[in-house]
Amino acid sequence: MTTYRIAPSILSADFARLGEEVRNVVAAGADMIHFDVMDNHYVPNLTIGPLVCEAIRPHVQVPIDVHLMVKPVDRIIPDFAKAGANIISFHPEGSEHIDRSLQLIRDHGCKAGLVFNPATPLHVLEHVMDKLDLILLMSVNPGFGGQSFIPHTLKKIAAVRRMIDESGSDIMLQVDGGVKVDNIREIAAAGADTFVAGSAIFGKPDYKAVIDAMRGELAL
Ligand code: DX5
Ligand code: ZN
Repeated sequence: MTTYRIAPSILSADFARLGEEVRNVVAAGADMIHFDVMDNHYVPNLTIGPLVCEAIRPHVQVPIDVHLMVKPVDRIIPDFAKAGANIISFHPEGSEHIDRSLQLIRDHGCKAGLVFNPATPLHVLEHVMDKLDLILLMSVNPGFGGQSFIPHTLKKIAAVRRMIDESGSDIMLQVDGGVKVDNIREIAAAGADTFVAGSAIFGKPDYKAVIDAMRGELAL
């Protein structure tokens, strides 16, 4: 049986009350906290860094899942590991040496992930499957919360699911962007097991109701 994980993205949380927001969303049933790092260079937006990761760390026991949308990635990886991140993923375009960056993440005691934009080909995966704990497929173009799920990414999810199954490993397959109660079931059916949702959860007053509804869809 597949273990499904819900990873609320704090990009849509109230940053003025971030400690309370992460505590509330974990109490509502979140399996991890998705932490979006944007640098106004790799993506056209600027968000939060290691200091904020360190600040929320004592508020939650669940893993902090850092999604680096930055270029270059290497010099910020140790800072996030020290700030309490558990999973660190990056886009191949943000690294000159993908194998080295993945190893750097593991050397700092974190799980390592690689992220693919909707139009980014998957060929690098062939060479690094044994260095991955997570593959993140973007179902929107990165940079902003609240965008609509791009339907053609479902095929890509299915393709990566086949690659993971063939490799015999238990790499998490995470999907990020436009995930809602009304599409989570088809995203799971395509092969995803870990679901990032920002606006769908933080945009509603009752986080538990949304997370319960998502789990209800996954149980069907
Ligand atoms: C987008 C970020 C996402 C974003 C998802 O670049 O990586 O994690 O917060 O937001 P929603 O769920 O609102 O599409
Ligand atoms: Zn993200």
